[in-house]
Amino acid sequence: MMRLLENKVCIITGTAQGIGKAIAERFAEDGAIVYACDRIDCGMDAWAKACTIKFQTRVQPVCLDVTDSVAVKDVFMTIYRTEGKIDVLVNNAGVVINRKIGMILRQETELMFKVNVIAVLELIQLVARLMGRNRSGAIINIASITAVAGSSGQVAYSASKGAVISLTKSASKELASLGIRVNAVAPGIIKTERFVELYEANGEQIDTRIRKIALGRLGTPEDVADACSFLASDRASYISGQILGVDGCASV
Ligand SMILES: NC(=O)c1ccc[n+]([C@@H]2O[C@H](COP(=O)([O-])OP(=O)(O)OC[C@H]3O[C@@H](n4cnc5c(N)ncnc54)[C@H](O)[C@@H]3O)[C@@H](O)[C@H]2O)c1
Repeated sequence: MMRLLENKVCIITGTAQGIGKAIAERFAEDGAIVYACDRIDCGMDAWAKACTIKFQTRVQPVCLDVTDSVAVKDVFMTIYRTEGKIDVLVNNAGVVINRKIGMILRQETELMFKVNVIAVLELIQLVARLMGRNRSGAIINIASITAVAGSSGQVAYSASKGAVISLTKSASKELASLGIRVNAVAPGIIKTERFVELYEANGEQIDTRIRKIALGRLGTPEDVADACSFLASDRASYISGQILGVDGCASV
């Protein structure tokens, strides 16, 4: 039986750990050719080899800082020339700095907007030109429930994810005529490596939020990966401009 993403050339950012790593593994399991990009190496070579063997596909680790526009262009052009196409881009790389309004520093806000917003926009600009040549493509941006719900201690971060939602909606309208779909996934609280850090900073607030999750559990990176795999696939061919919450039906 044909796998969901068989032979689709997929670029995923921020794959060294957490949600990005789970997305890369899910995509490989679903048959995609995966270019797994992160600014840190973190044993990605051994992991990519293991995924390639386990899922009988190709997982290629790429050391890439998404804010380095020259390097991004070089990597994307190389992938396009090698594969003849780019089918999917998942903008997952993100920076979270948890600070109350009185404590947030300008350079922290700038870093979050640089990685979470400006790099996402620039990657979309570049990939849209390449996808447009084949008149087909799917872009998935990772937003956050905090963009719509708000979150004390995450004022700058939630604003950056709000921008991700807005740019997803606008880009979907602009790129539809090129055959490119643009959607976002908005995770709730996901049990990643970073969860511990978040819990330490906002334990009480998070306990309250966990009690408001109707499905009664935290999300997993695999829950997010499943949503991305669906949106990347041809099964979602009539879905664009949508923000898919993966939050266990959390009340805001
Ligand atoms: N974990 C959650 O509960 C949660 C909830 C909502 C949204 N999100 C979003 O999901 C995404 C992944 O979250 P996570 O919890 O797995 O985060 P994480 O911090 O564990 O992983 C993020 C990855 O992005 C990489 N990265 C950061 N800056 C980069 C850059 N400039 N270039 C390339 N790679 C870079 C990091 O090296 C890291 O491997 C982020 O966009 C985050 O905002 C997470």
